[in-house]
Amino acid sequence: MFVCLGNICRSPMAEAVFRHMVKREGLDDKIFASSCGTANYHTGKSPHSGTMAILNSHGISHDGIKASTLERRHLQEYDGIVAMDEENLSDIIRLKNKNSTAWVKLLSDFSDGNWVSVPDPWYTGDFEQTYELVTEACEGLLQNITG
Ligand code: 4NP
Repeated sequence: MFVCLGNICRSPMAEAVFRHMVKREGLDDKIFASSCGTANYHTGKSPHSGTMAILNSHGISHDGIKASTLERRHLQEYDGIVAMDEENLSDIIRLKNKNSTAWVKLLSDFSDGNWVSVPDPWYTGDFEQTYELVTEACEGLLQNITG
């Protein structure tokens, strides 16, 4: 489960990019990916036009992706939760209780690059940067899962 703040820019991009890679590897019957936000401002909405444009330009589907909000049950239902930035990470950790079984990590934990948080294109306008960081780290995440 990929998590950002609004679930319209970064985490839906990570969901779409990761699903595309999973499909490429023929693992789409084994690995399920989704995304949500720690805030509910945009629940039910499609991804940001900047996210959709960059996915379209790379031939990556965002069909059916709609914003939703992180709930405590997700920490039991998913194997792992992947935070886009450090604020998301602390918000996720705050939701944990004794029933939470999922691992919780930053997306950058799966990257070889020298960065910690995915800068928020809602503020920076730089969806290309988001795409580059997300793509490199999602390859690392997939390698980590598949060994
Ligand atoms: P995201 O970006 O967390 O990458 O989806 C944002 C989207 C919306 C807002 C903030 C960040 N907002 O304040 O509405």
